[in-house]
Amino acid sequence: MEDEGPECGKADFVLLDEVTMEHFMENLKLRFEKGRIYTYIGEVLVSVNPYQALPLYGPAAIARYQGRELYERPPHLYAVANAAYRAMKRRARDTCIVISGESGAGKTEASKHIMQYIAAVTNPSQRAEVERVKDVLLKSTCVLEAFGNARTNRNHNSSRFGKYMDINFDFKGDPVGGHIHSYLLEKSRVLKQHVGERNFHAFYQVLRGCEDTELQKLHLQRNPALYSFTRQGAGLSASESEERSHYQAVMEAMQVIGFSAEETASVRRILAAILHLGNIEFVETEEGQLAVAEEELVDHVAELTATPREQVLRCLLARTVASGGREVIEKGHTAAEASYARDACAKAVYQRLFEWVVNRINSVMEPRGRDARRDGKDTVIGVLDIYGFEVFPVNSFEQFCINYCNEKLQQLFIQLILKQEQEEYEREGIAWQSVDFFNNAIIVDLVEQPHRGILAVLDEACCSAGTITDRIFLQSLDTHHRHHPHYTSRQLCPTDKTMEFGRDFRIKHYAGDVTYSVLGFIDKNRDALFQDFKRLLYNSSDPALRAMWPEGQQDITEVTKRPLTAGTLFKNSMVALVDNLASKEPFYVRCLKPNQDKAAARLDEAHCRHQVAYLGLLENVRVRRAGFASRQPYPRFLLRYKMTCEYTWPNHLLGSDREAVAALLEQHGLQGDVAFGRSKLFIRSPRTLVALEQSRARLVPIIVLLLQKAWRGTLARWRCRRLRAAYTVMRCYRRHKVRAHLAELLLRFQDARRPPLFGRDLEWPPPPAALQSFQAACRALFCRWRARQLVKNIPPSDMAQIKAKVAAMGALQELRPDWGCRRAWLRDYLSSAADNPAASGLFAQRLKALRDKDGFGAVLFSCHVRKVNRFNKRRDRALLLTDRHLYKLEPARQYRVMRAVPLDLVTGLSVTSGRDQLVVLHAKGQDDLVVCLHRSRPPLDNRVGELVGVLAAHCQGEGRPLEVRVSDCIPLSQRGSRRLVSVEPRPEQPEPDFRCSRGAYALLWPSG
Ligand SMILES: Nc1ncnc2c1ncn2[C@@H]1O[C@H](COP(=O)(O)OP(=O)(O)O)[C@@H](O)[C@H]1O
Ligand SMILES: [Mg+2]
Repeated sequence: MEDEGPECGKADFVLLDEVTMEHFMENLKLRFEKGRIYTYIGEVLVSVNPYQALPLYGPAAIARYQGRELYERPPHLYAVANAAYRAMKRRARDTCIVISGESGAGKTEASKHIMQYIAAVTNPSQRAEVERVKDVLLKSTCVLEAFGNARTNRNHNSSRFGKYMDINFDFKGDPVGGHIHSYLLEKSRVLKQHVGERNFHAFYQVLRGCEDTELQKLHLQRNPALYSFTRQGAGLSASESEERSHYQAVMEAMQVIGFSAEETASVRRILAAILHLGNIEFVETEEGQLAVAEEELVDHVAELTATPREQVLRCLLARTVASGGREVIEKGHTAAEASYARDACAKAVYQRLFEWVVNRINSVMEPRGRDARRDGKDTVIGVLDIYGFEVFPVNSFEQFCINYCNEKLQQLFIQLILKQEQEEYEREGIAWQSVDFFNNAIIVDLVEQPHRGILAVLDEACCSAGTITDRIFLQSLDTHHRHHPHYTSRQLCPTDKTMEFGRDFRIKHYAGDVTYSVLGFIDKNRDALFQDFKRLLYNSSDPALRAMWPEGQQDITEVTKRPLTAGTLFKNSMVALVDNLASKEPFYVRCLKPNQDKAAARLDEAHCRHQVAYLGLLENVRVRRAGFASRQPYPRFLLRYKMTCEYTWPNHLLGSDREAVAALLEQHGLQGDVAFGRSKLFIRSPRTLVALEQSRARLVPIIVLLLQKAWRGTLARWRCRRLRAAYTVMRCYRRHKVRAHLAELLLRFQDARRPPLFGRDLEWPPPPAALQSFQAACRALFCRWRARQLVKNIPPSDMAQIKAKVAAMGALQELRPDWGCRRAWLRDYLSSAADNPAASGLFAQRLKALRDKDGFGAVLFSCHVRKVNRFNKRRDRALLLTDRHLYKLEPARQYRVMRAVPLDLVTGLSVTSGRDQLVVLHAKGQDDLVVCLHRSRPPLDNRVGELVGVLAAHCQGEGRPLEVRVSDCIPLSQRGSRRLVSVEPRPEQPEPDFRCSRGAYALLWPSG
């Protein structure tokens, strides 16, 4: 699809050099010949039926129109659909697309293209619910066409009902539901069709498309000529295979929509029952009784409608009447009455079936679970595809209604496009050249005026008592409208032979003259059906059928209000429709039919000229040329576009909104294309509007960002403030905990200075987390302080003893429970007269001699010992430890030195964990010395700890290690051989002594 060059004519009739019928037709024809079937008049689309498949549609074409403005691409239905969709999304306003034109002009096709476009451009997120709604929307057309369309002389697929479809959209612009209103099905077609026409497609589809077995169950044969209702159109059927594929398509569509298998079976049965009903004929028996000619048919009808056969027969032959009170009598029909009742029943059943199908589709499409508060308000696009203006050789009540409907829609068009527009220019004080047009209000009035209008006169005739004939109704019309310029009849104009006397009247419609035959008007308007049928069908055991006849529930004796007539119902529905359309933003598609013969690529000029004239397209162009594409009150205009100008964003400071608007337009350089009304701005060309929209669209994301920024900032600030508050609370609490803890410490430790314990038993309270390490340090400090307090008070003479005891504790604590801590440690026991009364003098002499010889500083320890050597010899000896040497002395010989080991060779000593006085001294390069301290006062005094402590303290002072081992089985080495020494308690032993057995020593210790 290439873009259009000038050779294709003007894409918009507004651009014509001169607005005359000649120029208009020339352009239309030129474009049609080039395959351009669409042309604009401003935003109104004029479409000519090409009667051939053109490569204008499909996904690629849809993509070209998506998101574009109307004028950016060649004129197309997609552009209109897109404009309606965008207008709805942009302004959150309901819109509608009104498709008008005569029968066969392409309205239904247009509506399908529009639906396809909407289905294609919505739901980018592929939501299942939206897909479902779209599916149902698209499939519903197929089903509705099967039941509501038929072949007529004007159109092989003519819609025999009016259709208005609402599609609901959510705020994102995705379809979320829909609703179909159907208007006045031409149900008389069920009984009878004109030559060359057919009954509704559904009948032929069932006859041709059903499986054989299915057909048998319906008691049908595959031949439409066998049934009186389909006989007329039988020869006109499409090919059998085509009909079958249609049937299958319809069945599949019904399934997609959600009809159950049971429901589609009911539908088939009802269609079959209608066909059988049509074949029923009545005869009078010899006794003058009325009877059914072929009783088998009654069986079929009863079976197919799931009703008792007897009752079906009774309903066909008689009717019950209430005769006052609760009395009910049965009144037999005449043959004519019975036929009439049969036909009324067939029509009504079909109509109810059709309505049921529509309702069923609606129930599936109803927007579900929508909550305006949560989801925002739904917006709606309405698509109106209603039967077009019709003229047949014989026109009846249906044509009258259809043409009245077209008058109403033309009136709406005039109201919206022509009249309202001009009135508004005047009101707003815009310079304006008035355009004349024919206003068809006078014809609408002729039909619908209360009391005098044709519908009112007809209703009156229907309600009158006595037998009012169609002819009397015609007379009554004549008297009422004798002088009406758009009404005439043979009685009023006897010379006009085209009308039949006493039967026809003629209305000069806006689209042309139509002669109506009054025959059947009263009947069709009354639309009566005997109660018996309603009750019969209500009592059917088929739930679908039963649901179609709710009023069959009523008792026969119940007095009911007279039902509204068909004409009044139709009028009311038209008034409601027009009101509905008027509340929406309308988009128009005006369909033209190029010729009467459904011929491709042929434009019959006279025929088109007529349509152009009555559709008022020329006037439309004139108004459009003189007029403005858009108008908006100043405040609304500012609200929408103020961000595009520095003077108006965010708020203007000018004297009035009007001045602000002027400033805004001046900044954009658009002031030449607008006019300033009293309260509104008028924008001449859509281009200007689009320019404004585009600059707005450029700025909106920035504003959105700005708002997001501000809001995010606010959120962050709130969060920060909350956090800060939390931290403040935490800080205060922590401080409080610390203070409380410190106060507690002060309280507990206030008497810590008091001797002698210096707070030894005070318990530290558990610190808060923040003070954990602080408290650990404090405790260490406190311990040091306490130690200092304790040490400070020790006299210097005791210091050596204390140091030795500390060293002993370090070496023995927990290893030897009893190490003589509580004793006073005298060290030099051999010099003590108390401990060594016999020889302390001797020892003092020896000590003096040794001091002179070895020059030691101090005696660390001296004591008598019992020793054992490697030859198992046990002897009494004395041990002397100076700061230089370890001496072994012989007490028996004036403490002569037997062995002297330099003290720095002593590497360690081993003791046991018991209370015995066994000591093994280890020295480098020397045999281990095994001794037991003894001969002490008191006896068995515990001096091992003292020896360990003194030696350890001395080594500590010299900074060298001393190994102290505690073991109950002490290994030792003497001249390279290894031995063990252990302790054996011997209570009877007077003095400790050693014993040797099998290479091991044992100290025999006197106490147990
Ligand atoms: N855009 C089109 N392209 C091709 N054929 C079309 C187009 N519009 C209509 N037709 C043909 O014209 C016939 C009648 O159109 P339809 O929409 O049923 O008319 P209306 O609903 O106005 O009575 C269709 O069956 C189809 O064959
Ligand atoms: Mg149609």
